[in-house]
Amino acid sequence: MRRVILFLTRASFWLSGWVSGALLCAAATVESSANQATKLIAPAVSTGTGLLLEPALTLPEFTREKFAAAMATVGAEKIRRPWTSPVVTLAPHPRAGVRGLTEAEVKSYMLEARRLFDRGEAAPVSDVGLISTQEDVIRKPMLNHIAAFSNSVVRVYLLVQKTSTDTGWSHFSIVQDLTVTPVLDYYAELTAAGPRFEGTSCYKCHSSGPLAIHPAREDLVLDAPLAAAISQHIAEQPRSQFVFPKDSPKPPTGEKLTLKFCTRCHDDGGERDALYQVHAHPIRVLVDFGYMPPNRRLKPEEIAELKAWLERKP
Ligand code: HEC
Ligand code: HEC
Repeated sequence: MRRVILFLTRASFWLSGWVSGALLCAAATVESSANQATKLIAPAVSTGTGLLLEPALTLPEFTREKFAAAMATVGAEKIRRPWTSPVVTLAPHPRAGVRGLTEAEVKSYMLEARRLFDRGEAAPVSDVGLISTQEDVIRKPMLNHIAAFSNSVVRVYLLVQKTSTDTGWSHFSIVQDLTVTPVLDYYAELTAAGPRFEGTSCYKCHSSGPLAIHPAREDLVLDAPLAAAISQHIAEQPRSQFVFPKDSPKPPTGEKLTLKFCTRCHDDGGERDALYQVHAHPIRVLVDFGYMPPNRRLKPEEIAELKAWLERKP
């Protein structure tokens, strides 16, 4: 799937270059977009916007050695694996010409991702996640192993997670059904009884589907190039729609964000889905750490407008 997209992108660059006679220029564009794929994720540094509810965490006691040891408690053989592609290819879908996966098929992809991870056949990236760690209630290292899988009908993600003080690891999964338009995103916790679909809590951070990876500190990631490659795969995801199960509905959203410097990209029908007050937590973190907007720093008056909107009672 990814190859096809890459090929198409290249082909269209090539064609437009050919049509305009600017072949050299087209070749340079292709080159720079290929380089971007391997650009490492920028380190998390607070820009001091005043948007954070709690001081920026630096976790001084949590050394790289402690981090690596805590990560390995999941089973050292399952992580830090050699990889060539950041996305593990799944067997082709058994049902030909499928339009719309059944819930049972979605769940079986979730379980397959977990099985591959447990057998050391995934390519997981391991990090301390910035957004979850900086959250006002957690405030301790949130350890994440994230692995990506796909075939021509699905993109599957697995998250194996615990805080630094929990004993056991929890498992979560997102499956994107690519056989329908718009693409549908299913969220679940993988419990002992099997995958349990959820929506309410996941939507508070996952407003547009899977989230790009943001380690809390530059040294709290095992395999930074893999983190960048998985993040790139996530960023290239199709626009998709959240599936809310009946017993875990969409939470009250509060007001929609209408500030132009965000809605250029985050809006109904935009590059990313619209943001609401319910998404305050990832908004505060991603803007304060300078990740949003992606291409520039907000001006002080823009920060003030965003802050006022975040503080408005829904
Ligand atoms: C507090 C915010 C928050 C909530 C709530 C949340 N997530 Fe996430 N999730 C994240 C962040 C941040 C990442 C990327 C972590 C990183 O950078 O290491 C992530 C990553 C994931 C991934 C790996 C793929 C990806 O998106 O990068 C899965 C799978 C996942 N979450 C599932 C879930 C499910 C299922 C729920 C609801 C039960 C949920 N999450 C709720 C913040 C959240
Ligand atoms: C130029 C386009 C662009 C602008 C402008 C922009 N964003 Fe984003 N935003 C993105 C992209 C692309 C992603 C997903 C990739 C990533 O996280 O790096 C994203 C991700 C996010 C996320 C995580 C949820 C998601 O959609 O994946 C939040 C929250 C967010 N942006 C908030 C904001 C806020 C708040 C503003 C305005 C201050 C803003 N963004 C401006 C492009 C943009």
